Amino acid sequence: MRRGWSIALAAAAALAVFAAWLLHTYCTSSLYTSRPSGKGVTGAGTREASPEELFKSMTLEEKVSLVVGWGPARRVPGAAGETRPVRVPSMVTADGPSGLRIEPTRERRWYATAFPVPTMLASTWNPGLVEKVGRAIGEEAREYGVDIFLAPGVNIHRHPLCGRNFEYFSEDPLLSGVMAAAYVRGVQSAGVGATPKHFVANDQETNRVVIDTVVSERALREIYLKPFEIVVKEAKPWAIMSAYNKLNGKYCSQSEWLLTKVLREEWGFEGIVMSDWGAGDNPVEQIKAGNDLIMPGSDQIVARLLDAVKRGELSEAELDRSVLRILEVARRSLSYRGYKYSNQPDLEAHAQLAYEAAAEGVVLLKNEGALPLREGSRVAVFGTGQVETLKGGMGSGHTHPKRVVTILEGLRERLRVDEELSSAYERYVLEKRGREFLEKLYYDEAYPEPLPQDIVSEEQVAKFAERNDAAIVVITRISGEGWDRRLEKGDFYLSDSERRLIEMVSRQFRARGKPVVAVLNICGPIEVVSWRDLVDAILLVWLPGQEAGRVVADALVGRINPSGKLPTTFPKDWPDVPAAKSPECYPGVPPENPRTVKYCEGIYVGYRYYDTFGVEPAYEFGFGLSYTKFEYRNLTVEKAGDEVRVSFEVVNVGSYPGKEVAQVYVRAPRGKLDKPFQELKAFKKTRLLKPGESERIELAISVEDLASFDESEGVWLVEKGVYEVRVGASSRDVRLTGTFTVENDIKFKP
Ligand code: BGC
Repeated sequence: MRRGWSIALAAAAALAVFAAWLLHTYCTSSLYTSRPSGKGVTGAGTREASPEELFKSMTLEEKVSLVVGWGPARRVPGAAGETRPVRVPSMVTADGPSGLRIEPTRERRWYATAFPVPTMLASTWNPGLVEKVGRAIGEEAREYGVDIFLAPGVNIHRHPLCGRNFEYFSEDPLLSGVMAAAYVRGVQSAGVGATPKHFVANDQETNRVVIDTVVSERALREIYLKPFEIVVKEAKPWAIMSAYNKLNGKYCSQSEWLLTKVLREEWGFEGIVMSDWGAGDNPVEQIKAGNDLIMPGSDQIVARLLDAVKRGELSEAELDRSVLRILEVARRSLSYRGYKYSNQPDLEAHAQLAYEAAAEGVVLLKNEGALPLREGSRVAVFGTGQVETLKGGMGSGHTHPKRVVTILEGLRERLRVDEELSSAYERYVLEKRGREFLEKLYYDEAYPEPLPQDIVSEEQVAKFAERNDAAIVVITRISGEGWDRRLEKGDFYLSDSERRLIEMVSRQFRARGKPVVAVLNICGPIEVVSWRDLVDAILLVWLPGQEAGRVVADALVGRINPSGKLPTTFPKDWPDVPAAKSPECYPGVPPENPRTVKYCEGIYVGYRYYDTFGVEPAYEFGFGLSYTKFEYRNLTVEKAGDEVRVSFEVVNVGSYPGKEVAQVYVRAPRGKLDKPFQELKAFKKTRLLKPGESERIELAISVEDLASFDESEGVWLVEKGVYEVRVGASSRDVRLTGTFTVENDIKFKP
């Protein structure tokens, strides 16, 4: 009897829950098709219909719901957002760019590979390799049920303090654009859409959601829009993310000039534009401007748009444009196609690729006979970064890999590490941080406040110098979304404790004729001039991803011959930076709470500034040493119609196998428009060349790519005259020069 009652009660309770669920579903999502399960899509019939057919039978409510998303995503934990399932299954969007950012839930088994950050990818100067990384990330997205990947970041390194520079490739628009295009091709070859972001001029984090970026049209087109133009034209991304900031007075997400005239009419973009998360202040203006998808959206925004259409503030035709574009992209998506994702991407293969990508992005900044170290030699390793090694940056660019190989773990594989010293650092970090924090550093988004680094006395350092062959000092810097780096000790400058440590180590090791090597595990340039003389070698490994330690160790012992080159200048000091001239230029005014930032330096960003105005950097754009030496020979420059063909030979004249990044800069003649001293126009990384081997490099530069934007006439202009071709190993190590002539001015419309 009692059992009978309890069954009846349970049945009644189940019925009540079911009824409540039905009611809830009806009230909250009666517009939508049933939510697709993780394993496929519902409504097989809808799969066959074309976007136009689907669109014809849609109600106004459905249309409005399609242009507003929600977030975070419901289907994939940790994914940033999702479109609403209206006639077509929802599309899941998830962040990058250093790997797929999802939660490692499901017994912590949903790991994603942490690849090197984009600045390090750009340091490889190897688009083929970056395309492979893109492909691997695309495969992970696909196998975890993600339709659209929210990367790469294509903003410009305007100055070293932007907190998200690590998510961006370079200070140069060509290098940024070529790398971004390769990355997007890779992601999309896996069947997942890519979303270059943040369109445009979102080059600082301070007040990013309200700041008005004031920039000339010339600088905008030549520097900030250019990489987006390259990626749109060369790789056809499915989506573009509009930026938070205003551009010359208008929110990017509400700028018709930007999102429709430039992006679609001039460049032929055919995908969807989505807003950054919560960007802008007027959804009606967003749709009118061509910002098709409002992310993450809310029911209030749906209601606001519905009302706007009913009141005639937004025409149905304007709404329809965006609806059709979203349907078109949705139709290509994995969810629409019912892809059965496995939750099992090939993480082992991708770990190997993360290693290879980082290996090619290591930049050797200084080497006075210190490196490579003999394998098995005794090393004293200083600095907490050996234990709390940084794989990537903070914020939406974070990743959750299964493991991170710390620098200490990597070094132990190749060298005889002084365990007394390293275990002192291990204990110290554990005591200060706690085990949980250290675990989180790999999985979650914990911010490691810098710790004092000089935990050993000079007497102890003397002892370590006595019994080891070399010293390694690890310096770390992290940054992230939402704040800019600080122009202070411990960030742009060495902290006092780092300085003291380096001084002590230098004194004691050099007194015994033993080298000191600095390893920079950093998010962006730091000041180096005041201390670099204290060390014999500097190895820059940026934020190298999960295989960090293996890469550092292999580069130190020469299993990896460094072949990375700087994609961004290391200035001697902050006042040398073109954006540092006044608070108006960075961080903007009023300085306590900036609302407007003026790009005072115009087109003179990075090396364009340092080279034109004779300011010497610490390490120039394109710089990077190798354990071998390369010679450049036999340059030919030939103008054939609309192209300039540049050909030369690179020979390995040293004693290690290695790869070289050959760079081609062009110097324009004096004419109507001011021009930078020189601009990068082509580059090529050689294959691995054995000692004595050479490679003939052939590159073509389109004459149109020499143009500058002439604001007075609103046209691109290539001025006639004699141009110099400058071929070399960096922007300041030019080995060969040649010339070609442009007979007449060439003008063309954007
Ligand atoms: C970031 C974007 C990111 C989005 C979703 C925003 O705060 O600026 O880069 O894609 O959040 O996580």
